[in-house]
Amino acid sequence: MPELLNPADPGFARDPYPYYARLRSQGPAARVPLANGTHAWLVTGYEQARAVLADPRFSNVPPAGAGRPKPDSPAQRARGCLARHMLNSDAPDHVRLRRLTTAAFTPRRVDALRPRIERLTDELLEPLPSLAAAGEPVDLVDAFAFPLPVLVIGEVLGVPEADRADLREWTYRVGSPTDALERGAVDEAWTCLHAYFTDLIAHKRREPGDDLFSALVHDAGEAGAGGLDDGELLAMAFLLLFAGYETTMNLLASAALLLLTHPGELTAAHRGGEAYWAAVVEETLRHASPLEGTTWRRTTERVDLGGGTVIPPEDSVLVVLAAANRDPGRFPSPDAFRPARHLAGAQRPAPHLAFGHGPHFCLGSRLARLEAAVALPRLFAALPGLTLAADPDGLPYRPGLLVRGPRRLPVALA
Ligand code: HEM
Repeated sequence: MPELLNPADPGFARDPYPYYARLRSQGPAARVPLANGTHAWLVTGYEQARAVLADPRFSNVPPAGAGRPKPDSPAQRARGCLARHMLNSDAPDHVRLRRLTTAAFTPRRVDALRPRIERLTDELLEPLPSLAAAGEPVDLVDAFAFPLPVLVIGEVLGVPEADRADLREWTYRVGSPTDALERGAVDEAWTCLHAYFTDLIAHKRREPGDDLFSALVHDAGEAGAGGLDDGELLAMAFLLLFAGYETTMNLLASAALLLLTHPGELTAAHRGGEAYWAAVVEETLRHASPLEGTTWRRTTERVDLGGGTVIPPEDSVLVVLAAANRDPGRFPSPDAFRPARHLAGAQRPAPHLAFGHGPHFCLGSRLARLEAAVALPRLFAALPGLTLAADPDGLPYRPGLLVRGPRRLPVALA
């Protein structure tokens, strides 16, 4: 019988891997008791994770009633808009939304963001050496890993520079753990984001910019002619913000932490140049998967996963990417941080699943890789002698099963 799973436990949030390894040793998918008294299926094996993510019998549509806005609260209405996005849909709806979005997210458009990401990175890094030299540790999450992805999403959405500080503040509030801020402040931020994105869409319809979101509003076709309607665009703006910032924030923070605790790898990255930095990014994605689990799936019928594992219809299923990415059957010494395993010529491992698999494979993977490839070398070049100013084993992590990364990363200059 699998052990109880309590995602709110700080020890589990910091290091869930021993739990997942024990679970995997009992089988690649298991029905696990949750702290709230319910049960869910957790998929921890690599092959089974891929199989589930590619199988249409596992639906992404939340059960009827889930996430419905409560009519009397503007903040709930804003949250309800978010629920209409493509990650919450199955074919054929998903195919249509995805096709329109892929048409806007071309590699050329994403790659064209590089100079702007470089500039944003340099602007954020500029004050850090004097701050770090002043004696007090600097929180690298607050000063770098959080703002950069939000500013980049600002570029993607075509948010004017003058409004970026607001976007950053609202995002910070709605993304904060529930215990961190007053409820009123969070609700107000939801309302502001909702109003802001509604105006932004109207503005982009009138005056398209050269941003990706304008392409989505216009090139994808008009609403009614197969394009996205305003409600879908609003959901898309929320999805891009939330799918894009917290994940990338965790990638940047976890990569910085891994390099600070593996100085030999930092030296190798400095020597190895672009290819080694790219390997650092891939290994961080595998070793410290920023999205711990995918979004929840629900079986539409009875599914036999093989090996005696049968999931009944209407059961909740979570594919634990962090666990699949440490499956010893696929990745030798899975708990070791070894970027070199991703280098050309090395015995290449199976592709990691940090960006998911199948029809919902991450739409922003190219952008996330680009951000990390730009940000990490610049961070360590701007702050030589950077050291961790805290015990790495005591760092707080966000509770929950969806995203994973340090909440704070105090650093100082040696
Ligand atoms: C390190 C950064 C990122 C990671 C690890 C990541 C991971 C993922 C994963 C695992 C999924 C699939 C979830 C599921 O199947 O339930 C996904 C979907 C998605 N991601 Fe990302 N993501 C990252 C960054 C981004 C960025 C920067 C954007 C856009 C700006 C983005 C946009 C999306 C969208 C739109 C989807 C939904 C795709 C669909 O439903 O077809 N992601 N991401």
